[in-house]
Amino acid sequence: MRTRPLGQSNIEASVVVLGAWAIGGWMWGGSDEKASIQAIHAALDNGINCIDTAAIYGFGLSEEVVGKAVRDRRDQVVLATKCGMVADMSVGEERFRSNAHGPDPLGLLSIRVYLHPDSIRQEVELSLKRLQTDCIDLYQTHWQAPGTPLEEVMGTLMALKDEGKIRAIGVSNASSSQVEKYRSVGPLDSDQEKYSMIDRGIEEDQLPYCEKHNVAVLAYSPLGQGLLTGKVTLAREFDEGDLRRSSKRFSKENRGRVLQMLEKFKPVAENHGVSLAQLAVAWTAHQPGLTHVICGIRTIQQAEENAAAGDVILGKDELKTIDDAIDEYAGAIV
Ligand SMILES: NC(=O)c1ccc[n+]([C@@H]2O[C@H](COP(=O)([O-])OP(=O)(O)OC[C@H]3O[C@@H](n4cnc5c(N)ncnc54)[C@H](OP(=O)(O)O)[C@@H]3O)[C@@H](O)[C@H]2O)c1
Repeated sequence: MRTRPLGQSNIEASVVVLGAWAIGGWMWGGSDEKASIQAIHAALDNGINCIDTAAIYGFGLSEEVVGKAVRDRRDQVVLATKCGMVADMSVGEERFRSNAHGPDPLGLLSIRVYLHPDSIRQEVELSLKRLQTDCIDLYQTHWQAPGTPLEEVMGTLMALKDEGKIRAIGVSNASSSQVEKYRSVGPLDSDQEKYSMIDRGIEEDQLPYCEKHNVAVLAYSPLGQGLLTGKVTLAREFDEGDLRRSSKRFSKENRGRVLQMLEKFKPVAENHGVSLAQLAVAWTAHQPGLTHVICGIRTIQQAEENAAAGDVILGKDELKTIDDAIDEYAGAIV
């Protein structure tokens, strides 16, 4: 698998990164620890060297499972996690209400964004413990919190780096001006944003900016949470607690339009002998300025398939065939 640098950090991360949100179970209809650990091991065995998780995923469960899976192979893994989303009623700004399984307007858990220096310090210690490590390779602010000046946030992250608790600094869900502000304080290595064939909002501004300033861009939800894999047919049902069950994006009408678009990619996929999921990963990795593709993975098969996609090289004409189809359906797909 090809690797690319995480900004200026000297850390090389595989182009395909294992996303461990679903491994935490929360919002994804639950998870199975044994299957998750097997999937992580399969990913590492197939060339993926980087795992992305967050303290809030499964309220610590995702980090815990990742920690267990990699403890005997820690030197082979680039561990990326995030801070700044907390389930604590007394601080920060509420984003949404949840129960233990997923978003619920009547849920007792208040999910908040909070990046006060004391809170970041508390979060990093808990993440280190759950991940069973003494240093996190990439530490990212998960969402940007209005209450704390970014200068203070970046100052705290830089202090953690000096103390050897983290090796590189990243942001997520940040605007271009927020990325610029972080950079004005110190070296920012990565920016994690939603990006896929059906989420291209960062192309105009943020991607070129990051490319110019040597900030790695990690795409999250590159498979449209499964929609772009061709496996979400009209018949597919989602479990209770799976966020896709009530999402407009997964309505039958939208699935139908996505499936029509995917039909147009089939000749390209067949030419390479790859699946539509692999084609979506490969297309994402080919976009200018986009350096890493974080794929949600929770089975051995997904690990093997998505890892192999990191080596698929698409030709100019093939990219054009795909781009033309994406453009054709751009207004119709939500
Ligand atoms: N920074 C942020 O705010 C943020 C937000 C979202 C995600 N992320 C990160 O990005 C990662 C990936 O995003 P995501 O999980 O939202 O979406 P995604 O990667 O677009 O989709 C993941 C889902 O696609 C399906 N899938 C994966 N590989 C497949 C394959 N080869 N064939 C068929 N289906 C496949 C699986 O669903 P089934 O198992 O149900 O089939 C999987 O759960 C997360 O795990 C997380 O690390 C970060």
